[in-house]
Amino acid sequence: MLVALDAQAQAPGKERAAAIEVDSVSKRYRLGEETLAALEDISLVVGEGEFVSLIGPSGCGKSTLLNVVAGLVPATLGRVRVLGNDMTGPSRRIGMMFQSPVLLPWRTNLDNVLLPVEVFGLDRRKSATRARELLQLVGLAAFADRYPMELSGGMQQRVAICRMLLCDPAILLMDEPFAALDEMSREFMNVELLRIWEALRSTVLFVTHNIGEAVFLSDRVIVMSARPGRIARVVRVELPRPRTKATLSSDTFFHQVTAVRKAFDETADRIAS
Ligand SMILES: Nc1ncnc2c1ncn2[C@@H]1O[C@H](COP(=O)(O)OP(=O)(O)OP(=O)(O)O)[C@@H](O)[C@H]1O
Ligand SMILES: [Mg+2]
Repeated sequence: MLVALDAQAQAPGKERAAAIEVDSVSKRYRLGEETLAALEDISLVVGEGEFVSLIGPSGCGKSTLLNVVAGLVPATLGRVRVLGNDMTGPSRRIGMMFQSPVLLPWRTNLDNVLLPVEVFGLDRRKSATRARELLQLVGLAAFADRYPMELSGGMQQRVAICRMLLCDPAILLMDEPFAALDEMSREFMNVELLRIWEALRSTVLFVTHNIGEAVFLSDRVIVMSARPGRIARVVRVELPRPRTKATLSSDTFFHQVTAVRKAFDETADRIAS
């Protein structure tokens, strides 16, 4: 069977230890006198080394969920554990990446990668060696001492990937990191990201609006309902790894995209009716 749904797909599989545990999390934002329910009773386990994507309509709480897992936003109800510890605030074990690369234009690309040195008080010399290695890994060694404005959007996102990886985080939280790129650049970045992930074996929780991107990258795709965000469906992606550009033109890829699209549309229909 190509698609496993809900109960079967909710957990990462027996062979994996839990890296991220979200247990009955709800989030309400206070807006003056009113409250806005962003997340409702979310439970989710992401296994060590697993790649899981979140998709769902705009405003359904995907960024909120990522920020709760990162310890940047407190949950109203429920509990989040990362690598066995309760989340109480930002951690070096977690690397984050946002939709825009958020690079500081007055700092060289190398110094942008080194930003966590100041945030976490790391050894600058050791970190600089690691930063140059990372820039080499993403093909930007020659641009280390240049400035972000001299790079294309995709290259800037690669600098942001290096910054995310500087502290060797075990967990990567990525919020639509490639949404602003054109189709070809995004494909390239997806292949790059998988190459890096396969080398590092980190755990990834990845938000995207793009069903093809979610299927190509993930072990499981989580489909969320409209606000307040709930988990509507979970689809396990049965595509062999390593995945390459050739994967994108395979029949299996096409079938998996169709399955996720169906789950997405059924969720949207349920909301509309
Ligand atoms: N800091 C905040 N204060 C108040 N409301 C917020 C805050 N952040 C988000 N919200 C609200 O919570 C809901 C979920 O927002 P969130 O950004 O998590 O959605 P999203 O799924 O990431 O959307 P998009 O796909 O457009 O990025 C939205 O209605 C938003 O207006
Ligand atoms: Mg968002």
